[in-house]
Amino acid sequence: MSEYSSKQKRGLWTSRFGFIMASAGSAIGLGNIWKFPYIAGMHGGGAFVLFFIFCIITVGIPIMISEMVIGRHTHKDPVGAFKKIRGGAWVIVGWLGVTAGFVILSYYCVVAGWAVDYLWLALQGTFTAQHAQQVPQLFAGLLSSDLSQLLWQALFMGMTILIVMGGVSSGLELANKVMMPILFFILLFLAIRGIFSPGGEKALTFLFSPQWSKLDPPAMLEALGHAFFSLSLGMGAMLTYGSYADEGTNIPKVAITVSIMDTCVALLSGIAIFSIVFTYGIEPAAGPGLVFKTLPILFSQMPGGTLIAILFFLLLVFAALTSSISLLEVVVAYYCDEKKWGRKKATLFMGFIIFLLGVPSALSNNLLKDVHFIGDRNFLDSIDLLATNYILPLGGLFIAIFTGWILTTRLAKGEIEKGEVRFQLYPAWHFLIKYVSPVLVALVFLNKIGLF
Ligand code: TRP
Repeated sequence: MSEYSSKQKRGLWTSRFGFIMASAGSAIGLGNIWKFPYIAGMHGGGAFVLFFIFCIITVGIPIMISEMVIGRHTHKDPVGAFKKIRGGAWVIVGWLGVTAGFVILSYYCVVAGWAVDYLWLALQGTFTAQHAQQVPQLFAGLLSSDLSQLLWQALFMGMTILIVMGGVSSGLELANKVMMPILFFILLFLAIRGIFSPGGEKALTFLFSPQWSKLDPPAMLEALGHAFFSLSLGMGAMLTYGSYADEGTNIPKVAITVSIMDTCVALLSGIAIFSIVFTYGIEPAAGPGLVFKTLPILFSQMPGGTLIAILFFLLLVFAALTSSISLLEVVVAYYCDEKKWGRKKATLFMGFIIFLLGVPSALSNNLLKDVHFIGDRNFLDSIDLLATNYILPLGGLFIAIFTGWILTTRLAKGEIEKGEVRFQLYPAWHFLIKYVSPVLVALVFLNKIGLF
């Protein structure tokens, strides 16, 4: 089969806009709305937030460009891509990525299931009749049932499988184009409302005025890890999406646009949530339940709240879906490209395996609540920590080294500047990816193990 027709067979985005929206869809998800606010709260706000933004700029954006360049150059899944360019031990980086896809998607579906549960509550008008004090208890109610968590997790995985089975352009692309813009505007509305609420000013101070003493080594690693998680980096998801892009797509522009959008969504959601935290006296370090314990209070108090609650949780579920499909896509691309499985078979089979892998996470608040393997964290929080703080930055470190030290300028620059594209910032990017990103990731790791 010629190179051209094999590419066509794998699928391509139908438009540049589709590629941007799909990548933004992958990046923007539970990481922005569920996770960013809660970890910012646990690590004391300002300094953590600013360090997170610093990581996005010095590590995140350069690595996103790298992943997309490697993907588009090879038109392959992560394993095939490293095999094609260099082979040898580098293939392990691809392997690590596919494995991370299994791990992250397994618990991602459980948290997304919580969002589906809240959509269901919203549809029944549950929040409307509630007192501000009662709303946080709804979350405890949800966590107390293993069965409903399993059911929602299964439902969410089912939806992910259906979309991924549809393939690149019809499945993935359409879902993103419609939902992401609506989500952005509803968050903007909630954040603006939040700023003018009684807790608004405190929220802004908490999020943006740094107390550097709170930025201890674990907080730094968490911020770095979250930069990877939030931008979908370090495991080849952006590499895989880049592999469906055509020549002439301006990769740096896409990467920068996506990173800016992703950061804005996280900050808007932080502002909306912390305004409620400080208005109603909720603990900023409330942990993984934070978004579910805060926003519904607002929905219960404002006119038209039920409708907005429905819309919000619907969009949250969609944001999670556009991310989960990118996680499953990495795994599926690997089995299709390397093992020559059919798309349908790969999606169904692997989706089911990943669902099973996620079961312990779904049970981690009751049946398995005494299973702690990192500190006093339950199973779900432990593998989230393991994947986000260790696997992703490690994968990212290798991708940066690969790009900076193995790829020739001719290949990298040549790939980026295919078509009419000119990349004026090439020297800056090359400097960042060759020196700054790897050194920074290494330093944060070493700092965490207490080497300084
Ligand atoms: N970025 C997504 C979020 O913020 C999650 C995600 C999707 C992801 N694909 C990924 C994280 C790949 C790491 C790697 O919710």
